Amino acid sequence: MPAHPALATAPLPPLPHWESTPADLPGAIREIKTALRTRVAASGRTVSDVFAVIEQRVRARVAEIMASRERGETIWPVIDYADIEAGRVPADALAKLRRRACLVVRGHFDHEQALTWERDIVEYVESNGFFENYRGPGDDFFGSVGSRPEIYPVYWSAAQMQARQSTRMARVQAFLNGQWKHESEGVKWFDPTRDSLYPDRIRRRPPGASSSGLGAHLDPGTLDLWMTEACQNAFRHLFDGTVEEYDPWDAAYRTAGSQYPGTTMCSAFRTFQGWTALSDMDHDQGVLHTVPIPEAMACLMLRPLLADVPEDEMCGVTVNQVFPASDTWHPLLMQALSGIPDVKAGDSVWWHCDMIHSVAPVENQQGWGNVMYIPAAPWCPRNRRYAAEVREAFRTGSSPGDFPAEHYERTWANRFPAGDLNATGRRGLGLA
Ligand SMILES: [Fe+2]
Repeated sequence: MPAHPALATAPLPPLPHWESTPADLPGAIREIKTALRTRVAASGRTVSDVFAVIEQRVRARVAEIMASRERGETIWPVIDYADIEAGRVPADALAKLRRRACLVVRGHFDHEQALTWERDIVEYVESNGFFENYRGPGDDFFGSVGSRPEIYPVYWSAAQMQARQSTRMARVQAFLNGQWKHESEGVKWFDPTRDSLYPDRIRRRPPGASSSGLGAHLDPGTLDLWMTEACQNAFRHLFDGTVEEYDPWDAAYRTAGSQYPGTTMCSAFRTFQGWTALSDMDHDQGVLHTVPIPEAMACLMLRPLLADVPEDEMCGVTVNQVFPASDTWHPLLMQALSGIPDVKAGDSVWWHCDMIHSVAPVENQQGWGNVMYIPAAPWCPRNRRYAAEVREAFRTGSSPGDFPAEHYERTWANRFPAGDLNATGRRGLGLA
């Protein structure tokens, strides 16, 4: 629908943009905030109006989630892998996935297969003296663990590569990618049927562990979300008077640019972040939570432009730190924070790349909490570029470019060998 009568034909004022981290951050923040407000005003609306439109939409979703929680329902959508494979996902499950933008895939892998992978990973790291040589966390993101890590900076085990290049993984990734609008404005933004095998780490949290968890945050970027031309285009509807057309599933302009560098950056475009469970985990044992409202991103983008935020502040967002979300600026959203249900080894867990997520604290954890991080990162210019770095890291057993340069596996002889790549693996690495 036409958003507003004032959305006439007059061109809106252009936005300044910074394709690399601005030297003067407070200055750039002041400049972009003024420019964004001016642009919204030129469309005939005010930032408060635009924010109110989104807030109303999000408020309805929050109410729905809280009512659902009161009724004791599972907030996270759950779909059986078998239904994805057979192409018979029930319409109501699909609708819930679109609404909540997160998912548990039940039985994604056979329970025994997942437990075998788990044993293989232990054997892989132990056979290479990993614990004896471990030098402590290589970044400040998952830090504050003891002498034994919870996050293993290990990327190239046979188990991880087998999972990444498996047909079952490719099917689920294609299904999830397919939820996105990947063609628009005459451009095919990504290929939903081909994944780029984004290599990530492993988490193994032992029984009895106590952890303070991970605060609520999001991963798609930091100040670059407002400051690069690609991001300004991706979020164009928020700033040009057409907020009603903002679509969290539209991949337009997301697949070419890149993030400002930082220890927590992700070079790839991920439709969904995800992990595959390598142990059974109960819902109250320090598990993943999300704010399962994809439109919440629009609130997060617009909130810093409101008048009560200091002029050189973006609600706590800055470079080289994850994008925080908290009650301070986003009390409405935080009410909807919802944890995953119990999962079994072999289930996988997914959440839309823009969504707020956190890991709950746990005391004296019951059972293991083991996962392999494997997202959905479809083939696109941005992921093709990163795949060149990934190929080199794969060849040499190095830590991939997005991660701390720890390189534990370079001398490990039992890494997954190139000769074991299948067609999906070769395509994912850009070798076919
Ligand atoms: Fe994250």
